[in-house]
Amino acid sequence: MTATKGLEGIVAATTSVSSIVDGVLTYRGYDIDDLAENATFEEVIYLLWYGKLPSQAELTGLRTELNASAAVPDPVIDIMRHFPERAHSMSVLRTAVSSLALYDPEADDMSKEANLRKAVRLQAQIPTLIAAYARIREGKSPISPKEGASIAENFLYMLNGTEPKPVEAKALDKALVLHADHELNASTFAGRVTVATLSDIYSGVTSAIGALKGPLHGGANEAVMNMLEEIGSAENIDTYVRSKLDRREKLMGFGHRVYKSGDPRAKHLQRMSYELGKLNGNLKWYEMSVKIEGLVTGLKGLKPNVDFYSASVYTTLGIPRDLFTPIFAISRCSGWTAHILEQYENNRIIRPRAEYVGQSDQKYIPVDFR
Ligand code: SDX
Repeated sequence: MTATKGLEGIVAATTSVSSIVDGVLTYRGYDIDDLAENATFEEVIYLLWYGKLPSQAELTGLRTELNASAAVPDPVIDIMRHFPERAHSMSVLRTAVSSLALYDPEADDMSKEANLRKAVRLQAQIPTLIAAYARIREGKSPISPKEGASIAENFLYMLNGTEPKPVEAKALDKALVLHADHELNASTFAGRVTVATLSDIYSGVTSAIGALKGPLHGGANEAVMNMLEEIGSAENIDTYVRSKLDRREKLMGFGHRVYKSGDPRAKHLQRMSYELGKLNGNLKWYEMSVKIEGLVTGLKGLKPNVDFYSASVYTTLGIPRDLFTPIFAISRCSGWTAHILEQYENNRIIRPRAEYVGQSDQKYIPVDFR
């Protein structure tokens, strides 16, 4: 038995939810380029859960369900009031999502219908949790979700207390479409492993949030913005990038385990970064990002992934930096729950082997003789 580090290239499951083949990403067979240009996030949620694009009636039904489920149980809001002000936003989300289960009478009901209802509640309440904590830590009161608003509109409304501009809501909606699912990425795999023991969907999504937090995965978008700020201006890019590479340090937002000729999502986020920057009259972060991309690709052949340009998109939308990864979680909740529902449908506990490389043939020696 020989281990493959990081399970690189190992096919660990079958799925119909999304595919990455020859650099092309599809959700249920629909190319991400097609969906990014045409679909709303709610349409994508329906597609990932039910395997088909919704009719108008089905879409209206889902939006109504999500909207009606967006309020968070008061005791969970109260718990967040006791969290430390500077707690890590993904630790807050992981803890708050986990506590949602305590107030859901169906938490351990494993029927397909109950699991779908819980998927709706998780998808609807995660944005509310993030916006609520962002306001609580500023000493402000949480804002309740607005009736009839989409997830993207409501998140910006609950965060800022004002109606978002249509162009802002549309940009966030598109970012949510682009981050919704991605085959067997680390956080989705963590969720599937968890529920494959027949543990509940709240446990599965909590596991997934814990995995997404890491800077090698969802945490990279916040790290990219930290890098842009550390570099400060375009003149410093060359020295910064070359010294990072010389020290064999990772440049956040670049590289990918699966894509070797570029992440198809990056071009959409790059265009959004340009359009939003132009609209706001501030192309600094966009222009710096383009220059960094050119240098890193030239020096190392590494291409930007989904996290690289999302950093300047979210910054231009005025979103606090430590909420970038929680926004990733809002979107990926749709993929996580789709994969979890799929795992339950045809389950077998996920239990790989390990190649033992430790010592052997050891004999016990009484403690007085050690
Ligand atoms: C996401 O899996 C998914 O689908 C994830 C995701 C999704 O939608 O769910 O796409 C979202 O997580 C995107 C990735 C976000 N992470 C980052 O941007 C962090 C920086 N990237 C790297 O840590 C890395 O590229 C990974 C984690 C993305 C991939 O890691 P791998 O496949 O284990 O690659 P590796 O670390 O083994 O690197 C291979 C080589 C190494 O060089 P050598 O030692 O062989 O000479 O490429 C180099 C690495 O040093 N390399 C980098 C680099 N990424 C790889 N060098 C500098 N900067 C980088 N970013």
